[in-house]
Amino acid sequence: MTAAVPTSTLEQWREHIETCLTQWLTPSPGPASTLEEAMRYAALGGGKRIRPILSMAAAQASGGGPDEGLVPGCAVELIHAYSLVHDDLPAMDDDALRRGKPTVHIAFDEATAVLVGDALQTLAFEQLAANDRVPTATALAMVQHLARASGRSGMAGGQAIDLSLVGETPDLAMLETMHRHKTGALIETSILLGVLASGRDVDGDLGNRLQQYGRALGLAFQVRDDLLDIEGDTDHIGKPQGSDEARNKPTYPAILGIDGAREHLQALEREAHQSLDGLGPEADTLRDLIARIVYRRH
Ligand code: IPE
Ligand code: IPE
Ligand code: MG
Ligand code: MG
Ligand code: MG
Repeated sequence: MTAAVPTSTLEQWREHIETCLTQWLTPSPGPASTLEEAMRYAALGGGKRIRPILSMAAAQASGGGPDEGLVPGCAVELIHAYSLVHDDLPAMDDDALRRGKPTVHIAFDEATAVLVGDALQTLAFEQLAANDRVPTATALAMVQHLARASGRSGMAGGQAIDLSLVGETPDLAMLETMHRHKTGALIETSILLGVLASGRDVDGDLGNRLQQYGRALGLAFQVRDDLLDIEGDTDHIGKPQGSDEARNKPTYPAILGIDGAREHLQALEREAHQSLDGLGPEADTLRDLIARIVYRRH
C-alpha cells in the first residue's frame, strides 16, 4: 500500500509554484500594460498546477528535493497556460469560461489573447534557460525537451489533429495519438524535466520507468478530462460542461462510450502504478498523484 501524501504537502508545493509564477509575471515598472495584465490573468490564481507538481514529485522520486523541480515545472505551467488561452479562442474551442472566470479573449480581446499565448510561451523558455540551479548543459537539454513537447511533435501538433477530427469518428489509435500529443507530451515532459533537475539521466532505468509513468498518466489525464466534460458540472470544472459534445469533438467517451472510457482509464491507472514498481518511498508522491488525477472532480 502507498502511504498517502498529506494534502497539506501538496498545498505547500502549490504555494511555492504560485510564488514562482507571480515573481516571473511581476509587471515592468511604468504604466500598466494590458498585455502584462492579461498574462497575469491567464497564468495566476487558478488551475490545479498539476504539471509543476509532477516535476517536483519526479525530482523527489529521482532522489532530489522537490524544489529542484520548481523552475522547470513552472516553465511547463506557462506553456500549459498559453495552450489554454489559445484553445479557448473562437478559432479553436470557442469557450467563454476557464478556471471559473471569463476566458482571456472575453475578458480582454482576441488579439490580446493571441499575444498572451505568444508571450507566456517565450517567458517559459526565458526562465528555463536562466535556471542557474542546474549546469548549463542540463538547462539546454530542458529547453530542447520542452520545445519538442510544445511544438508540432507535441501539444501544438495534437491541437492540430484535434481540430482536423471535429465531426469525424477516429479509430482508437488516432484518438490516442491525438491525446498523447495535445496533453500527454507536456505531462510527460514535466516528469522528465523533474528527473533532469535532480541531476539524473532520463535514459537510465529510472528515466525509462518515469517516462512510462508519464505516458500512462498523460493519457489518463485527458481521458478524465473528456469524461468530466460529460459528467462534471460547470461550477466544479470551471469551464463549460458539454463543450465537447456541442462541438462534436473527438473524445474517448464519444468513441468508447462512458463505460469504455472508464475502463480504459482504469487500465491506464494500473499501468502508471506498475511503472513505479521497484521504486522506493521516494516515489510515493508520484504514486499518490495517480488516484488524484484519475478520480479528480475538476
Ligand atoms: C486542462 O488542463 C486542459 C487539458 C490538457 C486537459 P488542466 O485540467 O490541468 O487545467 P488547469 O490548469 O487545472 O486549469
Ligand atoms: C486541450 O484539450 C488541450 C490543450 C489545451 C493543449 P481540451 O480542449 O479538452 O481542454 P479543455 O477541456 O478546454 O480544458
Ligand atoms: Mg481543445
Ligand atoms: Mg478546450
Ligand atoms: Mg476538454
